[in-house]
Amino acid sequence: MHTEEKKVNVVILAAGAGKRMHSMLPKVLHEIAGRSLLQHVVDRGRSLMPDKICIVIGHGAAQVKHSMLAEDVNWILQDQQLGTGHALLQALPQLDANGVTLVLYGDVPLISQGTLQKLMTVSAGKYCSLLTAVFDNPFGYGRIIRDFETGEVAAIVEQKDATVDQQKICEINTGIMMIPNVRLHSWLPEISNNNSQREYYLTDIIALAVRDGVEVKTIQADNYWEVLGVNSKTQLAKLERIYQENYSRELMEKGVRLMDPERIDVRGDLNCGSDVSIDINCIFEGTVTLGNSVQIGAHCVLRNVRVASGVIIQPFCMIEDAEIEEACKIGPYARIRPGTKLASQVHIGNFVEVKNSQIGPYSKANHLSYIGDSTIGQHVNIGAGTITCNYDGVNKYRTVIEDDVFIGSDTQLIAPVKIARGSTIGAGSTITKETPENQLTLSRSKQVSIANWRRPEKKK
Ligand code: UD1
Ligand code: MG
Repeated sequence: MHTEEKKVNVVILAAGAGKRMHSMLPKVLHEIAGRSLLQHVVDRGRSLMPDKICIVIGHGAAQVKHSMLAEDVNWILQDQQLGTGHALLQALPQLDANGVTLVLYGDVPLISQGTLQKLMTVSAGKYCSLLTAVFDNPFGYGRIIRDFETGEVAAIVEQKDATVDQQKICEINTGIMMIPNVRLHSWLPEISNNNSQREYYLTDIIALAVRDGVEVKTIQADNYWEVLGVNSKTQLAKLERIYQENYSRELMEKGVRLMDPERIDVRGDLNCGSDVSIDINCIFEGTVTLGNSVQIGAHCVLRNVRVASGVIIQPFCMIEDAEIEEACKIGPYARIRPGTKLASQVHIGNFVEVKNSQIGPYSKANHLSYIGDSTIGQHVNIGAGTITCNYDGVNKYRTVIEDDVFIGSDTQLIAPVKIARGSTIGAGSTITKETPENQLTLSRSKQVSIANWRRPEKKK
């Protein structure tokens, strides 16, 4: 006996059209939680650390390939979709002669690593292992035919080829299986398309395995949703909800307080410290990290953001590609755009937009401002309605505001410009030149009053 490990190959079938999606986009490129269906399947396949991942493509092949440029996979073109058996046959030349192959479907995205691991263990490099499920309504699926006496799998019969009695069987083929490659080499070329759909059925290899005395072992997934496929927008939405429910549960199990686990969407990775609370209808995209005791108000969208501990984000904020240090207060209704770094204890209030700017500790912009391409020191107060005019229509320029500056309300800072340490800017100013330290600078026409002025009156 030898214990040498076999090479593991993963083949993902993804050539189908997905007509019922009613979309120009190839089916496997539709997204769940911000990642394509195919990406979910590839990621799962990878978790087994296979020696090779092959993806069979056909419909929208170029687009599918393009969507996964960063992935190290073998692409296999199936020009005509003649059936799942034909699809795997196209991949055969790429498979390791002495390996085992796991077959996954590009449109079954929620399969778990644990289930695939189980399938691999059971196949032990030499048996066929098959993932089956028991459905109350098995219509449309291939049925698992078992030997009446032994209970062993005898064959799979497709819905359209099943007898009335076979159609009553509730154990179905999920399509996910693991087969030794030497067997694929002998069985796949034997499959014919002599059936009601004139397709080469991969499922026919099960009967061939039985004929050749190769054991077919079956397992079932722990969760029904692992084997659900996406064929329509309705199913896509359903699987999205299942994914999100699972994600929410994991967050809560790690101690995150979700005001309503059914009203949060994570389209990427959300990493939380302890005592984080998240109010309803928030969306997290890309990689978001929330430190201890962070509070996120209702209706916020955070994309690729790192938020340090103690930060409070009030409702209706949009924050993207930014870093927020300890104990900042943001919102409600704030927009923080890419390239922004807020030091600790910064306050950004309602209707304030910050873009590509660094703001030092304890500085505040509490109302109605645009801060773009700026470097702001500590203990700076930006008055309501302050605008950094950073763009002349062609170029962008920086505004530098040093420590302890006070900018009066409704000020325009025409970049490039520097406001030196300790400056005070009078409200309503248009600042075009560097200001001196610790002085009041203002650009305002003198206020005049006209004593005997009368309002015009309508003639009767
Ligand atoms: C298949 C199984 C059926 C199982 C069901 C589970 C066969 C013959 N039947 O049926 O037993 O219950 O899945 O959902 O395998 N594909 C290709 N090339 C092709 C045909 C299909 O790449 O020529 C891909 C599709 O893109 C899809 C997958 O294979 O990802 C399954 O194909 P589909 O036509 O949906 O098979 P079903 O008829 O649903
Ligand atoms: Mg199908």
